[in-house]
Parts: sequence; structure tokens; C-alpha cells
Amino acid sequence: MSRLPVVVLISGGGTNLQAILDEAKADLPVEIRAVISNQPNAYGLQRAQQAGVATAVLDHREFDSREQFDQALADLIDQYQPGLVLLAGFMRILTPEFVRHYRGRMLNIHPSLLPKFQGLHTHQRALEASEKEHGASIHFVTEELDGGPLILQARVPVLPGDSAEELAARVLEKEHQIYPLAVRWFAEGRLALNDAGQVVLDGKPLSAPMDLAQVDS
Ligand code: GAR
Repeated sequence: MSRLPVVVLISGGGTNLQAILDEAKADLPVEIRAVISNQPNAYGLQRAQQAGVATAVLDHREFDSREQFDQALADLIDQYQPGLVLLAGFMRILTPEFVRHYRGRMLNIHPSLLPKFQGLHTHQRALEASEKEHGASIHFVTEELDGGPLILQARVPVLPGDSAEELAARVLEKEHQIYPLAVRWFAEGRLALNDAGQVVLDGKPLSAPMDLAQVDS
């Protein structure tokens, strides 16, 4: 099977990037053409370099406006002609123009069971809300921040006495499973966003996001 060209956007440590790099080395049919960070010191850049992947830094602080940054970012991404753009801990709000440009070919991972806990500090907020269950979500990116159509989720229990860090680590382990899986579906041509804004998997619109536990069984 031919490999799907992919560009990954990061801002930090890049453990999700690493999970995708690892599976691309095994049998995930993607070619990671570039990893782009808005943070010059993001450790994920080193992970990419170690994997022999091109890296670029586009520091948002060097731009006068969000629009200018996003335009430059799109120009940079498009040089690599990706069929799929992955937000992997990319901590920037994106302009509607940018998001529209990549409609149906940009995914994000978010550390909560969306639509719960959009935005930041999701683990702390889940603890404060006394949630019994928490998790992570993969979705297509649309203009609504953390609100795009959901593809795949994974759940973890919230255990008595959990700290936000302990809970985050439990969720992160699941993130590393669901992101490569959703990327695989897309790369194999099984996953799409239709004109009505519905997620289509294997030819059928999803009425609810897939759950990793169902997929495994
Ligand atoms: C992950 O937990 C990801 O879900 C989250 O940032 C972390 C990045 O970790 N993303 C967001 O919060 C997006 N709003 P990583 O750099 O180790 O992959």
C-alpha cells in the first residue's frame, strides 16, 4: 500500500508524535514528511530528528497577528504536500481560514472525553468534577475549538486519590494507542469527513464515536 504523506504539528514533548513515528517504522502506511513546532525548544523536534524526519520551527511570537502566523504555517505545511495534518499537542488556537483549508484532512488529539472538558487543564477539571471516568478523544478539526466531529475515544477509570499527574499518565498511555489507530484508518482510506460534517468509517456515518475497548474486542 502506498504511504500517505503526513505533517505533524507539535508544541512540546511529542510522546504522541513518538507513538506515530514508532508505528510508521513498523507497519503504519504513512510517510511523516515533516514535524513543525511553534516552540523552538519542543523536545518532540529531537524525536523527529532521531527518526530522520525533517523539522521546522515557526515561532508564533515572531508574527504580528494570528492570521499572519497561520498563513505562514499553512504555506510551510503545504510545501510538504500532506494528505493528512496531525495536531499532536499543538497548543495554538487556529484561525477559521486555516481550519477550512485542511477540512477533512486534519486530526487533533484532546485529553478528555469530549465534549467534556474542552480547553486546558482537563485532568484537574475531571478530578474536580468527581468524574468516575476520563479519557482521550481523536476528532476532525473544525472551526469550533475542540468541537470537531469525534472519531475515536479511549476511557480510563479515575481512581480514588488520583493526582492530576497520575490521571494524565493513565490517559496518555491510551492516547498513544488511539492516535496511531485513527491515523491508520485514515491512511487506509477507511475514515473520512463527509460534506454533512459526519465522520464516515468503512462507508458508514458514525452515530457515536468509536471506543477503543470495542475496537480491541
Ligand atoms: C497530550 O496529552 C495531548 O492530548 C494534549 O497535549 C499533550 C501533548 O503531549 N493536547 C491538548 O491539550 C490539545 N488541546 P505530547 O507532546 O507528549 O504528545
